[in-house]
Amino acid sequence: MAITIKTPEEIEGMRKACRLASQVLDYITPFVVAGAKTIDLDQKMNEFIVANGAVSACLGYAPKGFTPYPGATCISINHVVCHGIPSEKTLKKGDILNIDVTVILNGYYGDTSRMFTVGNKVSVAAKHLVDATYECMWRGIDAIAPGKPLNAVGIACERVARAEGLSVVHEYGGHGIGRNFHEDPFVCHYDTGDNRIILQPGMIFTVEPMLNAGRRHITELSDGWTVVTVDRSLSAQWEHTVLVTENGYEVLTLSEGYPALPDFVKDKVTL
Ligand code: MF3
Ligand code: CO
Ligand code: CO
Repeated sequence: MAITIKTPEEIEGMRKACRLASQVLDYITPFVVAGAKTIDLDQKMNEFIVANGAVSACLGYAPKGFTPYPGATCISINHVVCHGIPSEKTLKKGDILNIDVTVILNGYYGDTSRMFTVGNKVSVAAKHLVDATYECMWRGIDAIAPGKPLNAVGIACERVARAEGLSVVHEYGGHGIGRNFHEDPFVCHYDTGDNRIILQPGMIFTVEPMLNAGRRHITELSDGWTVVTVDRSLSAQWEHTVLVTENGYEVLTLSEGYPALPDFVKDKVTL
């Protein structure tokens, strides 16, 4: 499958879907507190998505070899790397969690995730992991420019992980996105040494590094979805959907409630 170059109309459709995905996270932020059940957060987000004329891309999603995904979003707590299924489990002080939202609006997919911390007494190691993974994602995004190899993203992400003593998950990565959830290319968050894919204006893909505090290895639970670290060390992830432009990049999954941007992108990125 080839990497598609999006038309101006498709780009406009993607801007709308992506902004809505980010707004879902703005909306849920005040509810991410100790005692909240993840199934209730999921239900709230699904209602917000539907109220805004969209549907969840995750609900019922069933790639080959998978059972249909039962949630509207993914909520991955502590050592859960990704694809955490919303459940009766309640959040507790000190937890770190990722909420990953993908909406379909007018046929276009918008995909983004953020980390949250529960209470104000998160461990130093957990806070470091969350913050370093944020920097990792933004360094990866900031490496995007037309004419550069896609691998520049992986190189930039891996540099941050190494400097911070964290490991990069290899099995999952970013992906092209548009009128489909997962398109080419597959975006590695480490240096693959493969410089064959050259970025071109109009490409849209996600940058979504997963970093572990311990070893990079992962395993899937028997529910067929939940991915955890083998060593049960903490894992973090942030995600944006990004357009390659004539001069650089445009981050599509931003909205009013987005957290503070790192200094090195402040004058290049607008909410
Ligand atoms: N949003 C995830 C991604 O970034 C995919 C979740 S698939 C689901 O690609 F079925 F688990 F929701
Ligand atoms: Co994604
Ligand atoms: Co996602």
